[in-house]
Amino acid sequence: MSETILEARSLAHAFDYPLYRDVSLTMKAGDTVAVMGRSGSGKSTLLHSLAGLIEPLEGEVKLFGQSLYRLKEEEKERLRRYRTGIVFQSHYLFKGLTGRENIEIAAMLAGREVDGALLERLEIARVVDQKVSQLSGGQQQRVSLARVLSKEPEIVFADEPTGNLDDETAEAVMAALLAYVQEKNATLFMVTHDPAVARLCRQVYRLESGQLLDVGEL
Ligand SMILES: Nc1ncnc2c1ncn2[C@@H]1O[C@H](COP(=O)(O)OP(=O)(O)OP(=O)(O)O)[C@@H](O)[C@H]1O
Ligand SMILES: [Mg+2]
Repeated sequence: MSETILEARSLAHAFDYPLYRDVSLTMKAGDTVAVMGRSGSGKSTLLHSLAGLIEPLEGEVKLFGQSLYRLKEEEKERLRRYRTGIVFQSHYLFKGLTGRENIEIAAMLAGREVDGALLERLEIARVVDQKVSQLSGGQQQRVSLARVLSKEPEIVFADEPTGNLDDETAEAVMAALLAYVQEKNATLFMVTHDPAVARLCRQVYRLESGQLLDVGEL
């Protein structure tokens, strides 16, 4: 039996109106999960809740066996620096620095080195020394993924990591992401609107009518 990495129990979230309720999910090392659903259904909110960024209204998230929202701020900070990786839908790169500098900073903070082979796999090796502001949207997105993977997290939360990419580049990015998961026996929770991308994950869910529905194999 492999180790349980993430356990979410009966999560609910609401803003002015209820977003979702009774969402439960268990992920073990090596698991890959994709969540699909309409724009505004709450996918990013759920991802942020599982990653420790937004406390759910109800329910509990356990990450590495620890109840996430009972941790002290510095313990959460440590998890975020060393053990979890979050690829945001809007990626928050330092625009005035080069892609490589962005990646190096994150790697260095986690005590890691930048993996040149990863940059090749993500097809950004030739552009990564340009300023982020000079990179295309899709290139920036891949720099942000490289920045997360360079920390070598045990669990990756990726919000639309292929959202700005053509099919061929999306395929290369998914190949790199899944190769990372396999090599490190890491865990992947991702959000995507693309069924071709979702079906590369072992489990696929839809967030619909406020519920997380298991859609099985696509
Ligand atoms: N901080 C916030 N305050 C108020 N409402 C919010 C907040 N964050 C999200 N929402 C609302 O919650 C709903 C779900 O947002 P969320 O970003 O989780 O959707 P999503 O499924 O990721 O959509 P998309 O596919 O467009 O990225 C939206 O209607 C959004 O306006
Ligand atoms: Mg979103």
